[in-house]
Amino acid sequence: MSELVRFGVSLEEGLLRRFDDLIHRRKYTNRSEALRDMIRQELLKQDWEEGGEVAGAITYIYDHHTRELLSRIIDIQHDSQDVIISTQHIHLDHHNCLEIVAVRGRVKKVLQLSDSLRAIKGVRHCALSMTGTAEETLR
Ligand code: NI
Repeated sequence: MSELVRFGVSLEEGLLRRFDDLIHRRKYTNRSEALRDMIRQELLKQDWEEGGEVAGAITYIYDHHTRELLSRIIDIQHDSQDVIISTQHIHLDHHNCLEIVAVRGRVKKVLQLSDSLRAIKGVRHCALSMTGTAEETLR
């Protein structure tokens, strides 16, 4: 881990009060940790805008009785095998399946995969959660 550096920040009182309210609601115990997370988040956004690499998961639910749905999902997954690390399939009940697709790759390709899965008729609650893979955003 790299060395910690301290620096001072000057803020208007009202802005600081709102910041403290916000971090209290988000359960942070101190300003430093909140600020670190916010900086990491902004760095991630910049990486994504520049097409950086991400890792994450796409989760969705579908009714496996829906006609041709399974073959559409499998076709799309095979076309994206360069970004898919693994797929976990959970039989939720008689009708519904939950799939968790672990992904890693260029943000553009991960977004394309997530959009393609979401757009399939019968796929519900499709959500993409991702983080950067650059070392400075993981620390
Ligand atoms: Ni199933």
